[in-house]
Amino acid sequence: MVALARSPRIQPKTDESSAFEADVLAGLHATPKRLPPKYFYDGLGSQLFERITELPEYYPTRCEMRILREQGADIAKLVPKGAALVEFGSGSSKKARILLRALPPLAAYVPVDICGEMIEQEARELRLDFPGLKVLPVTADITREFVLPQPALTAPVRAGFFPGSTIGNFEPHEAAAFLRNAARILGAGATLIVGADLIKPAEVLNAAYNDAAGVTARFNLNLLVRINRELRGTFKLDTFEHHAFYNRERNRVEMHLASLKRQKVKVAGESVDFRAGETIHTENSYKYSVDSLGALARGAGWQPAAVWTDERGYFSIQAFTLAK
Ligand SMILES: C[S@@+](CC[C@H](N)C(=O)[O-])C[C@H]1O[C@@H](n2cnc3c(N)ncnc32)[C@H](O)[C@@H]1O
Repeated sequence: MVALARSPRIQPKTDESSAFEADVLAGLHATPKRLPPKYFYDGLGSQLFERITELPEYYPTRCEMRILREQGADIAKLVPKGAALVEFGSGSSKKARILLRALPPLAAYVPVDICGEMIEQEARELRLDFPGLKVLPVTADITREFVLPQPALTAPVRAGFFPGSTIGNFEPHEAAAFLRNAARILGAGATLIVGADLIKPAEVLNAAYNDAAGVTARFNLNLLVRINRELRGTFKLDTFEHHAFYNRERNRVEMHLASLKRQKVKVAGESVDFRAGETIHTENSYKYSVDSLGALARGAGWQPAAVWTDERGYFSIQAFTLAK
């Protein structure tokens, strides 16, 4: 058999890169144009998200971490000794670190994220900081079925952790599908601890997604940088602008990239036309009330068990359980 010479410029397509190409082309040919927010999180996107969490205008991370610090002991009562903790969309695991300090000894901590680069790095650090803990990262799309590592499967029970209001990035029907998938993955008797941003005045929300330092704008535009790099895109970054605003009727903050002029862009060999002012809808961040998230979870088979909020009522941590 003759070995085929590898061209340095033509990389074999993985399932992941084919899905990225198919999703991007479908989204750019749709009306209105849209892109799935999960593709924000390449290496640079994950780093930019971490910078967003430290911005003065971005209250959610501070509120959620404060609730975890102040209520950790109470939250821990819902997670029995020997359970496995599975975190969905774990990113830097910085909230898990607070929770892990409050929890009893666990069978394993399983951070799951689409950005493998980020969670492998964080797992190395977690193992140093929590020497007795099995840290078993899984790179996977949390909207799909995935298999837990053996120590998590054989633990007597599993608890899920889904902080960061990532649930708000799903359409409500997708959030319900996620909650059903989480129930299948975690199994009977599980607890799920969800961090969800609450409905609040539009000024607070508009400021949080339009920071003065422009980090959220860079995070949004980085999606075009990624398309240029991975899909032979020809987006000119200075011809697109970050737009974010609270849509009160739909209880969501919308993020868009607006074309500043009429133009044609190539992506993976296909042509995409933009009108001046036309946008690509890149993310929704739905805001819930305690009751509306409770109703969504109930519909997906989870029983509301407890709720913690900060004193301004900006953010909530809500616990749900599955029957044994
Ligand atoms: C809003 S950030 C939250 C990060 C972290 N949990 C926190 O609370 O700071 C969303 C995280 O979920 C991950 N993510 C988004 N969509 C995902 C998907 N479909 N599958 C797996 N991970 C996903 C991103 O890579 C990112 O780390």
